[in-house]
Amino acid sequence: MNEPNDVNAVNDASDADETGEPAPRPSGGEAPGEAHLLGLLDGFIKTKVLIGAYKLDLFTACRTPRSRADLLAQLALPERSGTILLNACVALDLLHETPEGHLQVPPALAPFLVREADAPFRTTTYLLDYYDEVFRAMVDIDELIRSDGASSSFKLRDYFKDDVSEVRDEDAAEYSTYMEATMGKIVEVVLTSYPFAEHRRILDLCGNTGTFCASVVAATPGLQGAFLDVPACVELGAKALAADPELAARVTPIAGDLFKTPIPPDYDLITMCRSAMDWGDAKMGPVYAAIHSALPENGRFLIIERMLPETNTPEALALYLRSFYFLAKSQTTRYRRPSEHVALLEAAGFRDVEIITPPRAPYQLFQSMRLIVARRGPG
Ligand SMILES: C[S@@+](CC[C@H](N)C(=O)[O-])C[C@H]1O[C@@H](n2cnc3c(N)ncnc32)[C@H](O)[C@@H]1O
Repeated sequence: MNEPNDVNAVNDASDADETGEPAPRPSGGEAPGEAHLLGLLDGFIKTKVLIGAYKLDLFTACRTPRSRADLLAQLALPERSGTILLNACVALDLLHETPEGHLQVPPALAPFLVREADAPFRTTTYLLDYYDEVFRAMVDIDELIRSDGASSSFKLRDYFKDDVSEVRDEDAAEYSTYMEATMGKIVEVVLTSYPFAEHRRILDLCGNTGTFCASVVAATPGLQGAFLDVPACVELGAKALAADPELAARVTPIAGDLFKTPIPPDYDLITMCRSAMDWGDAKMGPVYAAIHSALPENGRFLIIERMLPETNTPEALALYLRSFYFLAKSQTTRYRRPSEHVALLEAAGFRDVEIITPPRAPYQLFQSMRLIVARRGPG
């Protein structure tokens, strides 16, 4: 039987001679290149099979073993397209076939693919819906690239406003869902990688609803904190904090604009998590300089985000691919290499800059997280 990845299967018809046997592959290195390309072309269809089956709620229907006829009837799918979908799902190991010929979602996939009320937030499940929207923005990929992403139809694309008070509450809530849900795992790793206890006051810039700041403060006795973000996000965060008066007394929400609000001077640690990447050097250079000026002597600036390797390497494929998602999502977001941050930090006046590689990634999708610590020197 052909494996799902077996590109020879794709070629069987055209390569077969009259005996039905596949003709020998041409020598000279063409076949491996062809196999690589055919594999890439199939990649799109595999993803669409997954998203299509998820949107049709096939996996919930297959929570327990079901016959093919039952499934087509329940989901009201035509015989031809429904069979095409079921066959592809089985071939991709998204559904298993029982000895009786019934189909069931494999136990390892069920927590992600079967819809359930009150299911815990799962990044992978969230991305199934989110990427459906992202992929729509990639339909004319050549135009997306040619326009530096400007042609994208992505609905939250214009979330970033020149006037931050224009960010709508419902957009802030949607934008924050994923970030809040994944922050706990990031904080866990950051706390093991950086000595927050050496500080008295932390200010988290672009701190969203304050989850990072509040979690670090809660885990660090004696630390006071503040987070700055657009008013709609800060309002959400302030409401959540009000439920915990003890923590609320130690965390100050600041509604503002990273590019316009003066950075308060009395914080000996300023942080930016998953945010510096949202703007180009022309915007971030002055922000780094303002942070440098606002810090006291020996104060530190900590940048936390996924970073590209210094040289192009296949291991960073996930980062290079995710960068395409940035083209769809925003006009300026991009990953930087640590050395690019260092150059910007040095131009802003920082002299003592350290790059920290955490012991592990916070979660599957968030590989290659780095911490950059920049210390303000005397004067
Ligand atoms: C990618 S999110 C990161 C949020 C948070 N640090 C985290 O890791 O979850 C970027 C954040 O920047 C905020 N933001 C966008 N424009 C801003 C601006 N001009 N001033 C302050 N915050 C801004 C967004 O509201 C959002 O919360």
